[in-house]
Amino acid sequence: MKRALITGITGQDGSYLAEYLLGLGYEVHGLVRRVALEDPTRRFTRLEHLLERVTLHPASLESYPSIFSVISKQQFDECYHLAAQSFVAESFADGFSTMNTNINGTHYMLAALRELQPSCRFYFAGSSEMFGKVRETPQTEETPFHPRSPYGISKVAGFDLTRNYREAYGMFCASGILFNHESPRRGYEFVTRKVTSTVARIKAGQARELRLGNLEATRDWGHARDYVRAMHLMLQQETPDDYVVATGETHTVREFCERAFARAELDWQRYVKVDERFYRPAEVDLLIGDSAKARRELGWEPRYTFEQLVEEMVDADLRAVGGKEKEEG
Ligand code: NAP
Ligand code: GDD
Repeated sequence: MKRALITGITGQDGSYLAEYLLGLGYEVHGLVRRVALEDPTRRFTRLEHLLERVTLHPASLESYPSIFSVISKQQFDECYHLAAQSFVAESFADGFSTMNTNINGTHYMLAALRELQPSCRFYFAGSSEMFGKVRETPQTEETPFHPRSPYGISKVAGFDLTRNYREAYGMFCASGILFNHESPRRGYEFVTRKVTSTVARIKAGQARELRLGNLEATRDWGHARDYVRAMHLMLQQETPDDYVVATGETHTVREFCERAFARAELDWQRYVKVDERFYRPAEVDLLIGDSAKARRELGWEPRYTFEQLVEEMVDADLRAVGGKEKEEG
């Protein structure tokens, strides 16, 4: 039985990855930080159904000793480093804490593994935000980085650290350059979930409008369930490498709205209002990934379409507010 450690296990991807690895017969451990409100039903919403089957360890990405302590107690075959301040808009509001968590946190994980378990395979959650002001379209592993936010900059640093540990110390360190991926477990502040949760509240008579920023931003949106399979595949290869994971299809925020409202039989134009407050100081206008390398070398391909993703998210939110009209497919 393989043993895996997941940082960020309480997040969207961490919960799907934990589920996936348990299904493959792994023993799954997770790092969790302490919060003042410890009501487990709220704190572990995404993990609720797995709590009996995973082992959680208290640690913070800001504290090297806490990470060192967890890694010194148990041998792990694989470590998936997903924990991060992951909201781009927040990184503009507080670039310093984003940098601290995302850069030092990654460095602490790598340094502790190098010290205690250099043969543990390491996955770094890189991001298409690293491409930022894109130099070419679609983006591949060879596309130069030009990050446009403190978050993007922190991910470039994490990516470089990961590659350096691979090259300097011969550790098995791989990075996924993952494009946006969503699900019914997506955080409410990200645009897709903001749209689908508000659609459900409008349908149920609990909200009257949806205020958004840049409707022309274009993203390559996939499903998180598909993307965690790619993370696992990267750590099963003979040699560590970096891979773009994307659908190769791109849509605007406007298109996402149209489809989400239509799923609830609503006309998006009646409800969506553009609000300058949700514009960013620097925008990433267009992302579309070329995942040919992952498809060729990992045998990975997405199973969900964009339409299925939107429908699953809207239907889940409709069910959650009790305004559900269509059953999930
Ligand atoms: P998410 O839902 O925001 O989850 C983030 C996780 O990180 C949570 O478990 C959170 O714990 C944990 N965390 C944050 N700060 C921490 C700290 N200081 N100490 C310990 N844990 C901390 O993010 P996600 O969508 O699952 O994404 C997973 C990773 O992939 C992130 O690194 C993200 O940047 C990256 N990524 C995501 C996407 C995407 O489209 N989803 C695309 C590319 C890359 P709490 O529950 O305690 O807050
Ligand atoms: N969040 C949000 N809220 N975004 C909005 C809004 C709004 O009201 N209105 C328009 N947008 C636009 C943003 O300006 C951005 O261009 C796009 O919608 C997507 O925003 P998010 O859903 O917040 O995601 P993101 O693309 O900035 O970042 C996500 O994907 C990255 C991978 O490319 C996050 O998951 C990152 O952690 C991840 O690395």
